[in-house]
Amino acid sequence: MRRTLLIASLAVASMLAAACGSSGSASTTPAPTSGTSAAGTSAAGSSAAGTSAAGSSAAGSSAAGSSAAGSSAAGSSAAGTSDAGKPGGAGGDVGVFTWWADGSEKQGLDALVKIFGENYPNDKFVNLAVAGGAGSNAKAKLASDLQAGNPPDSFQGHAGAELTDYIKNGQIEPLDDLYKAEGWDAVFPKDLLSRLTMDGHIYSVPSNIHRANVVWANNAVLTKAGLDPKAPAKDIKGWIADMDKIKASGVSTPLAIAGTWTQVELLETVLISDLGADGYNGLFDGKTKWDDAKVTTALNDYKTLLTYANTTADGDDWPGAIDAVIDGKSAYNVMGDWAVAEFNSKNQKDGVDYSYFAVPGQDGVYDFLADSFTLPKGAKNPEGTKDWLRTIGSAEGQKAFNLAKGSIPARTDVASDGFPPYQQWAMDQFKKDTIVSSIAHGAAVNLSWNTDISNAVSQFYGSRDVAGLQTALVQAAQSNMAG
Ligand code: GAL
Repeated sequence: MRRTLLIASLAVASMLAAACGSSGSASTTPAPTSGTSAAGTSAAGSSAAGTSAAGSSAAGSSAAGSSAAGSSAAGSSAAGTSDAGKPGGAGGDVGVFTWWADGSEKQGLDALVKIFGENYPNDKFVNLAVAGGAGSNAKAKLASDLQAGNPPDSFQGHAGAELTDYIKNGQIEPLDDLYKAEGWDAVFPKDLLSRLTMDGHIYSVPSNIHRANVVWANNAVLTKAGLDPKAPAKDIKGWIADMDKIKASGVSTPLAIAGTWTQVELLETVLISDLGADGYNGLFDGKTKWDDAKVTTALNDYKTLLTYANTTADGDDWPGAIDAVIDGKSAYNVMGDWAVAEFNSKNQKDGVDYSYFAVPGQDGVYDFLADSFTLPKGAKNPEGTKDWLRTIGSAEGQKAFNLAKGSIPARTDVASDGFPPYQQWAMDQFKKDTIVSSIAHGAAVNLSWNTDISNAVSQFYGSRDVAGLQTALVQAAQSNMAG
C-alpha cells in the first residue's frame, strides 16, 4: 500500500514537472497572514500574502496569456452576453472529476448534482469521481488525463497553491466573463478570489470552505476517562496528558489516524500549535526556516502523538479514523470538517455522542482550505461546464452542497440559519479567527511540494527519525519554494 501511494505521488510530481517543462519548482501560495477581520471578507486570510498567492509570476503569465482557447474566456465581451447560459442548459454530457466517490462525500456531490439537474435538465452529469480522500488517487489520474489531452469537463482543485499549478501549466481557462455575468465578484470574499486569480484573470469557482484543524472526540470515551468533553486541553502537552488518562481508562489507541495524507494534516496542525499562526505562515514564504528549533519541537510532539495512535497503512482513508472515534476504539481524530458528514451518516448526535474543538494550542486559528471547480482547456462541453459552474457558484447550490458536506459556503450571502450546529460554529469562527492555509489540502503548498512532504511523512511513519524528517522537510522547502 505504502509503496503504491508513493509511486502514485511521484507520478503526479513528474507529470507536473513534465507539463511545466521544468524541474517542478513551481511557486507556492504563501500562507495568508493572520488576518482576523471583518465578517466574510477575511476568507482566505486577508493580506498581502494572500494576494501575492495568486499573484504574478512569469510562468503564470505565459499560462494565462497563451492559448487560443483561453482568449475566448478571458478576453472579451460585455458582461452577461456570452455567458448568460441557455434556459435548461447547453445540453450534452458534463463529465465532472472529483474524489467524492463514496460515503458522505458522495452525498455532498449528489446534493449538488440534484440542483444541477433541476436547473439544467438538458445537461447530463457524468460522474468521473476517483475514490481516495484528499485526492490521494485522483490527482495522479487527473495529471495523466490532462497531460494526455483528455481533460474532464470540470475538475476539483484546491484554492491557492494547488490551483496555481494548473494555471501555470496552462491547463485551465479563465472564467472572467462568467464571474461578470453572475456578479460573483461581489459575493465571494476578496481574499478567496485572490487565491483563484493570476495576472488579473480568475480561474475557478469555489464550492465551499473547509477547516482542517478540528479534533473530533467521542464524548463517552472522554467521560469514562474523567475528562470533560466541553473543556479540551489548551496545548499539545495538555492534550498528551489527556491521552494518558484515556489510555489508563482502557483505550489503547486514544488517537485515530489513517493513511499518509491524514498524517500530513495532523503534522500541519502540530506545527500551527508549536509555531503559532505567524510562525506557521512563515514556513511558506521563507520567513520561518524549516530547520528552526520550534519545528524540531513540533516534530518531536508529532512523534509523541503517534505513540498514542493505531497502526495504519498509506492507503487507509479518513472515514475509518472517524469510525474508530464513533466506535469508541479511539477518543480523538484530527480531521477536516468533512468528518461531520460521517458522524451524521452514522446518526451520531452533536454534543451528545461527539464533540469537536480546534486542535489544542490553536483556538482562534482556522486552518483553511477550499474546493473549487475549473473549466479545463480542451473540455469537450465548455458550455455545459459553465452550467455546472453556475450551479456551484449559486447560493442555492452552495447551501445544498455545504449542508451535506460539512463545510461552510464560500459565498458570504448564504444565511447560517438552517445549518446544523457544527457549521454555525464554523461560520462564526471563520469570521473571527486568524486564517492559515492547509498543507495537506493544497492551500499552502503546490502539488510537488505536497508530494515531497507526504513522502517525508510516510517515511517517518516507519523510521520515527525526527532529524531525518526535518532534513527532508528542509529539502522539500528548498526545492519547491518560489525564489
Ligand atoms: C480534501 C477536500 C475535501 C474532502 C477531503 C477528504 O482535500 O478538499 O473536500 O474531500 O479532501 O477527501
